[in-house]
Amino acid sequence: MKIIYEGHSCFQILGNWGPRILLDPFISGNPFCEKSPQDFKPELILVSHGHSDHLGDALEIAKANGATLAASVDLLQVLDISGLKTIGFNMGGGFEFKEAKIHMMPASHGSNVNGAYAGLACGYMIHLEDKNLYFAGDTAIFGDMEKVLSRYEIDCAMLPIGGFYTMGPKDAITAAKWLKAKTVIPMHYNTFPVIKQDVWEFKEELEEKTSSKCLVLGPGQDTELGDSES
Ligand code: NI
Ligand code: MN
Repeated sequence: MKIIYEGHSCFQILGNWGPRILLDPFISGNPFCEKSPQDFKPELILVSHGHSDHLGDALEIAKANGATLAASVDLLQVLDISGLKTIGFNMGGGFEFKEAKIHMMPASHGSNVNGAYAGLACGYMIHLEDKNLYFAGDTAIFGDMEKVLSRYEIDCAMLPIGGFYTMGPKDAITAAKWLKAKTVIPMHYNTFPVIKQDVWEFKEELEEKTSSKCLVLGPGQDTELGDSES
């Protein structure tokens, strides 16, 4: 499968035979994304919470492509989802979508849409083509990363490192240690001045202190996650 980083916390996960998944599609207003919402053709859109840098263009892209929008029931409640295919579920639960299995994971973060309370923020565990991908969303570090999430054999973890709104580099390294992910892709940094981080310093420290490999993707860059890496 191919993982494309679109800046901030937006990723496309394109299966070789599995579905095309779009995560937290913050496109308009994302200073690192040169694409426009029309450039995305997902079948499934996963949104971690209602903040505008995550919900982004989800509604427009879902509508334009007939894509399924999956998020917490509480978030869908405050959105205008008329005419959209949606899956509203909650933490601990999951669903199958074509060849993918999606589970909602806890996160430690808030959620609202223009001031309307939108329940709890979440992360996602995505099982696709024999790989487990963990997308943390916006979160602080929390103990269940070690107790609950590490039960999955995580091939790739997408972790925020920006600090201020989420965990910063130090906590992300501890989280990576707990998660035992083979590969960590840092996200949610440098988009705004308050979340500026030295990602290369993070990579060096992560690889020194954990068994994880750090894959720094610039906006628009992609990686292949295939059998050769397992
Ligand atoms: Ni947020
Ligand atoms: Mn955010």
